[in-house]
Amino acid sequence: MLTVQAAAQRIAEGELVAFPTETVYGLGADALRDEAVAKIFAAKGRPADHPLIVHIADAASAEHFASAIPDFARQLMAAFWPGPLTVIVPRKSGVAAASAGGQDSIGLRCPAHPMARELLAECAKLGVQGISAPSANKFGKVSPTTAAHVTEEFDGSIPVLDGGACEVGIESTIVDCTRGAPVLLRPGTLTRAQLEAAMGRELLLNDEHSAQIPPQLTAQNALNSEPAPRASGTLQSHYAPRASLRLMNAKALQTALDLLGAEAKNIAVYARAALSSPSSHLIMRRMPDDALATAQQLFAVLREFDAKGVKLIWVEAVPQDAAWAGVRDRLQRAAS
Ligand code: TXA
Ligand code: MG
Repeated sequence: MLTVQAAAQRIAEGELVAFPTETVYGLGADALRDEAVAKIFAAKGRPADHPLIVHIADAASAEHFASAIPDFARQLMAAFWPGPLTVIVPRKSGVAAASAGGQDSIGLRCPAHPMARELLAECAKLGVQGISAPSANKFGKVSPTTAAHVTEEFDGSIPVLDGGACEVGIESTIVDCTRGAPVLLRPGTLTRAQLEAAMGRELLLNDEHSAQIPPQLTAQNALNSEPAPRASGTLQSHYAPRASLRLMNAKALQTALDLLGAEAKNIAVYARAALSSPSSHLIMRRMPDDALATAQQLFAVLREFDAKGVKLIWVEAVPQDAAWAGVRDRLQRAAS
């Protein structure tokens, strides 16, 4: 089995290692070596202009990568690091360019998983200041939450540190801190209220039609050559299982099951409501009533359905309240 020391050695040599974080497994390389980072893009099949998150040991390490850190970003870091939060800040020029996918900003996150922290500490001893890591899945697919998922995703070609099942289960909350005001790019398990309480100010939502969002304060934008960067996690269709996924309320779901009757097959259902079907071929999984518990198992459940070869996944739409924002976002993208 791969040890943390051996994994750190590989990263210091410019190779890839997959490792656990509290959110999902990451596919890591030395953030400051562009040729190592290029291997991540190649393995994932990810377009080179989709920026990666740099994982760091602590808030102090952010200074290696950031050219400026606004106060509200520091407040977020102080409140939620180590933990499932990524801040996008202006990038020091000439640093981690490949990782940033050409943006003049950089995503930074200090993970809480003990094995990720150990890996970062061992890497630091070898002179590695940060680990660039996207989720360890092929581009557009469901993020892995166990070491076995990663092995399956890359057919065993990438060494994996096994840290068990991820506790959070969906990717970190991302806040863009490059626009003079905080903008939520990707919801996770931290609620808007928690983020706003830590900053003592409003968090803007990344709504394309919102006139509220200030433009990026970057040289690139000043020249008006490129649109503001898009997180790939904000692409309409992402986090998708192989089967096609549909969201329905409990009543519509039951009606659909009634219509199919005993004929229902190659269908998996994931719902909080107790539904019934006369079909013995139907795969039913009960969704927890709690948003955090659902986030923890969501991707594993979708992978399990795919492994059973179903063609359709029917999911009960989740409650509208803030606690469910991260799960709702992933399900909507999986359904697109
Ligand atoms: O929980 C997580 O964030 C996991 C674990 C491994 O840390 N990582 C993760 O990485 O989800 P990835 O690459 O799958 O998603 C990171 C998102 C992408 O959508 C990317 O476009 C966005 O962060 N991002 C990273 N740097 C950015 C930047 N400078 N500007 C805008 N978006 C950025
Ligand atoms: Mg991803």
